[in-house]
Amino acid sequence: MSGISRLGVVGCGLMGSGIAEVAALRGLDVTVAESSPDLAVAGRDRVAASLDRGVRRGKLTESDRDQALARLSFTHDLGGLADRQFVVEAVAENRQVKLEVFRQLDKVVSDPEAVLATNTSSIPVVDLAVATGRASHVVGLHFFNPVPVQRLVEVIPALTTGADTLARARAFAAEQLGRTVVQAPDRSGFVVNALLVPYLLAAIRMVESGAARVEDIDSGMELGCAHPMGPLRLLDLIGLDTAQAVAESMYEEFKEPLYDAPPLLRRMVAAGRLGRKSGRGFYVYDG
Ligand code: 3HC
Repeated sequence: MSGISRLGVVGCGLMGSGIAEVAALRGLDVTVAESSPDLAVAGRDRVAASLDRGVRRGKLTESDRDQALARLSFTHDLGGLADRQFVVEAVAENRQVKLEVFRQLDKVVSDPEAVLATNTSSIPVVDLAVATGRASHVVGLHFFNPVPVQRLVEVIPALTTGADTLARARAFAAEQLGRTVVQAPDRSGFVVNALLVPYLLAAIRMVESGAARVEDIDSGMELGCAHPMGPLRLLDLIGLDTAQAVAESMYEEFKEPLYDAPPLLRRMVAAGRLGRKSGRGFYVYDG
């Protein structure tokens, strides 16, 4: 057992809120840090809405929901994570922002044995590790969206990650969060995105070139290959800005043309068509 009872989560967007929810449902005391009071309130609302949805769908009892909410606290100050034994960073996929979070976590988390994990999809874990004075305690822990549903976690040891940190991260994900763990190399894209991103970008290029319609591409993969979502619907779920950021990191690392974000993706992000979270991406969403 990894024996973590006090978890910190930095960032309460799509991924951070899901990680916080799963951990609280599994009995951990969770403190979530956001960058402003408004974002902390929005983060709490996001977790509460997801727990309510679980109750409506008969997956959780009202008591499960209430107990999970009681285990969650929200702060807009990273200093609120001082007593945490394990922290998962899940802020936007932006190198500078993540580097700054790790520099700050290094200062505020008081237990020198605490594990500092990043949910990055594509930024080298080692870069975040060496931004701290405790590189051996930093590891990658990559969740999948929607976190309450997807059972996989990629655990990514950087060159600097200590064997004990890796073992604790694996045990935390597997035993405490009940996830299936895949160990992945610290190469941009790890295992899953290295395969998924070129496929998603290929679907965008099919739309861009006029080769096929959005609905036909998605129906093709949903009904022809039994994917739960076609690639364009999935891009809308992931967020087009996140998909672009992941593709850019992968392209920067490998200079592989298949990882190069196509112009249509860049234009949609520039236009604010980010997918479900902005109400419009390849599809239009209400509410
Ligand atoms: N929280 C909790 N449960 C949820 C949920 C959420 N946000 N969204 C869906 N669910 C549950 C529902 O309760 C339902 O459970 P049930 O069947 O036991 O009642 C089940 O999931 C199916 O949900 P729905 O019926 O509402 O909708 P769908 O059948 O269309 O499923 C989906 C939605 C789970 C999102 C499914 O389409 C899916 O798995 N899509 C693929 C997602 C995927 O590939 N994710 C990986 C993205 S890549 C990534 O995250 C990496 C990053 O680095 C880019």
